[in-house]
Order: sequence, then C-alpha cells, then structure tokens
Amino acid sequence: MPEGLSWEEAAALPFGACTALHYLRREARLQPGERVLILGASGAVGAAAVQIASHDGAEVTAVCSAANAALARELGAKEVLDYNTHDFTRGSETVDVVMDCIGGTDYARCARVLRPGGRLLRVVCGLGGLVAALWQGRLSGHRVIAGVSPGNLEDLSAALDLAREGALRPVIDATFPLARVAEAHARVDSGRKRGSVVLAMA
Ligand SMILES: NC(=O)c1ccc[n+]([C@@H]2O[C@H](COP(=O)([O-])OP(=O)(O)OC[C@H]3O[C@@H](n4cnc5c(N)ncnc54)[C@H](OP(=O)(O)O)[C@@H]3O)[C@@H](O)[C@H]2O)c1
Repeated sequence: MPEGLSWEEAAALPFGACTALHYLRREARLQPGERVLILGASGAVGAAAVQIASHDGAEVTAVCSAANAALARELGAKEVLDYNTHDFTRGSETVDVVMDCIGGTDYARCARVLRPGGRLLRVVCGLGGLVAALWQGRLSGHRVIAGVSPGNLEDLSAALDLAREGALRPVIDATFPLARVAEAHARVDSGRKRGSVVLAMA
C-alpha cells in the first residue's frame, strides 16, 4: 500500500486504475501528444483514465456533467464538455482516442470524430458490440477495442507506482459501513457516483 494513501483510497485504487491502464496503455497504446476524449470522466474508471492519460502526456477532453467539471479539470482534463448541452459526436473537433467508460456511444456515432489511426475503447459494451469490434472501423483505419480488462499484477504494480509518484489518486464518492451494504449498492446502481463507493469492514 503506497504511503500517503488512506485505507479507503487504497481499496478504491485498483478497479478504475487497472481498467484504465489496460485500455489506454496496453490496448490503445496512447502516445504523448495524442488527444483523448473520455466519456464518463467522473466515474471510477473515467477519473483514473483522465489522470493516467494526462500523466502519459495526452491532451484530455473530459465528458461529464457540469457538476463534475471542476473535478475533471482537477484530475488533469484540458477541456470539459457537458454531456447535457454538448454532443461530442456532432462537433468539428477530432481525437485520436475515444474512451467510453459508461456505454454511452458506439462506432457508428464516433467514426467521424476519430482521426486516421483512431481507437474507440468500449469499456462498457454488450455481446453484439464485442463481436462487431472485430471488424468495425478497419476500412477507415480505425480500431474498436472492447472486452474485459484482466486486472493483472502488471497493471496493479503500474497503478501503485503512479500513486506513489502522486500522479494518481482515487476519487471517493462515499464510504459505507458493511452494515449499510444495501445503501452502498444503491448508490453504485444510481449511476451518479463520483469515483468509487467504498465499504468499510470494521
Ligand atoms: N471492460 C471492463 O473490463 C470493465 C472494467 C471495469 C469497469 N467496467 C464497467 O465500466 C463502467 C464504469 O464504471 P464506473 O464505476 O467507472 O462508473 P459509473 O458508476 O458507471 O459512472 C458514474 C459516473 O458517470 C457519469 N455519467 C452518467 N451518465 C453520463 C453520460 N451520459 N455521460 C458522461 N458521464 C455520465 C455520472 O456523473 P453525473 O451523475 O454527473 O452524470 C457518474 O459520475 C461500469 O459499467 C463497469 O461495469 C468495465
């Protein structure tokens, strides 16, 4: 456990961080200077992705509600788009990577904002999307990447290094005692949490 993290922060670290590392580094091979748009930047995966992509030298656009805009900027986003007033698929700006952390888009909608060599990362995706990802975008020079992040030791170790450097800090929405586990689940199921919900065992 990295020094300086609380027990709650340490517990909250792996879920978002390992998923973001798997998608951004191993799958997308994100490069410094590339532009990445993160949809659902205020969730556990999105908040880690904003920090990791910024740390790795990418220019980050966060898509979240206005209420979470300040958080996204604090985490490292250069630009923030409010999904209630702005549809990023209809703008004129293009990006190298779209990372969808909430299951809010698909390749058909993202194709026009992806640059040549662009990648769509579908962190949340059903079976149809998983199968379609095998061929979608190939003719346009894009890649669609979906599937389960394995959460291996390499990613955990990279997440711990980032936390030790101070480049990654988990965002905690709320901590519940075990006796209130149902409330904790309800908060997660609301789809409104910022970062992670933590259960305290003691
Ligand atoms: N593929 C894999 O291996 C893998 C690994 C881990 C997780 N996942 C999946 O990833 C998903 C993300 O989980 P999570 O815990 O990071 O976050 P989450 O709880 O699903 O996301 C909650 C956040 O999303 C924001 N949000 C809701 N609707 C939005 C929209 N239309 N546009 C942008 N932001 C929106 C909410 O903010 P507002 O309330 O302000 O809107 C809230 O802060 C889950 O479905 C999980 O199962 C997949």
